[in-house]
Amino acid sequence: MTNLGRRDFLVRTGLALGAALLADARPCALANPSSPQGKLESWESIRAQFPLSPQLIHLAAFFLASHPTPVRDAIERHRAGLDADPIGYWVDQEEKQEARVLQAAADYLGGNPTDIALTDSTTMGLGLLYGGLQLRAGQEILTTTHDHYSTETALRLRAERTGAIVRQIPLYRSLKTVSRDEIVGSLVKGISPTTRVAAVTWVHSSTGLKLPIHDMARAIQSINRSRDERDQIIFCVDGVHALGVEDFNIRELGCDFLVAGTHKWMFGPRGTGLVWGHPKAWPITRATIPTFSSQAYDLWMENKSSKDLPQSVHMTPGGFHSFEHRWALDEAFLFHQAIGKAKVTQRIYELNQQLKQGLAAMPHVTLHTPMSQDLSAGIVCFEVAGLPPRQVVEKLRDRGIVGSVTPYATKYVRLAPSLINSTDEIEKTLEEVRKLRAS
Ligand SMILES: Cc1ncc(COP(=O)(O)O)c(C=O)c1O
Repeated sequence: MTNLGRRDFLVRTGLALGAALLADARPCALANPSSPQGKLESWESIRAQFPLSPQLIHLAAFFLASHPTPVRDAIERHRAGLDADPIGYWVDQEEKQEARVLQAAADYLGGNPTDIALTDSTTMGLGLLYGGLQLRAGQEILTTTHDHYSTETALRLRAERTGAIVRQIPLYRSLKTVSRDEIVGSLVKGISPTTRVAAVTWVHSSTGLKLPIHDMARAIQSINRSRDERDQIIFCVDGVHALGVEDFNIRELGCDFLVAGTHKWMFGPRGTGLVWGHPKAWPITRATIPTFSSQAYDLWMENKSSKDLPQSVHMTPGGFHSFEHRWALDEAFLFHQAIGKAKVTQRIYELNQQLKQGLAAMPHVTLHTPMSQDLSAGIVCFEVAGLPPRQVVEKLRDRGIVGSVTPYATKYVRLAPSLINSTDEIEKTLEEVRKLRAS
């Protein structure tokens, strides 16, 4: 089988028979006036794309996406194809669907498809990236005391396995006084001559604080200018609560790696995510899980090296996936782009400002998330005097309002207004919080 690709082999042995019958008849959603994406002219019509219970005010929608109509339809289409003829559909679709997803992600981010590795979650991306960064003896990973379990644990596991040095620093003293300058200054002060990697989280799910990633990247670039290439700091960002919220172009942002699940704010299929890497930064990574890219696999069957393939290909873990979900991810990027990235950001900001201003005016509420939109995105954290956060969330749930408690050592009530909410819902939520009292 040496000169025969995996796909050729499957096709010639007849296993792909029937695939032609299932050839992709899917129209381009944006070009199709009858597609759901043609019906995004109002916030009500956007909300109508989600099968979310209408009895509830969903202020934890970022936690795990509900699939909007185009994503749901695509999942169903791929599921039907796979159920009818698993190998035939896979042989026919795998390469083109993966290319379609990568192109949609690249178009949305403003990068290239070869900059992107596909994963199943933020956590998978962080684990693969932090586990696989090549460091020389004595080089350290600098991280912060504000990161999520997944960053912290991925780095701890890396340190335990390889002896890598991981150092944590705080980026600010108090949320009441935090500023861009303080955050950038703390980062710069924390960087040592041996710092090779800086690992941060763009929007903290513990407090709602948004880091000034662009400014931090610029500060790192300025330090890097006087460093040998082998010692330059690689800036890695968990961007899961910014992707689908912030309006940014990845090439202009300035980080080296952005890791995110696409099943939160992006409303992509559950079990999807990505790692974007700058072409200059990818070579520092080493893959952990064998990729199932057809190019890599074909080369393997020909006893040839695949080392010249883009590193993002090697960093896309293989094994079979829930392909009906992975292949429907392009629809989530198209959905956001059909609404417009700037409009998405503006809407989320408006609803969050409405919520924060209402909460800040309540004497029995302590708002922890900064009011400034410069330092916050779509997550609002607060406390109610005399009531543990868990109780507040339960009481709100009894009144049909869905929030969550921050899953950190310090716990706050967390509400996250998003595209599926209305200003009336935020007003109703404020009314209910106003009525909350310790019993
Ligand atoms: C900041 C942050 N990073 C990572 C994760 C994990 O995301 P995923 O479920 O996509 O692995 C979460 C929340 O679940 C989070 O809040």
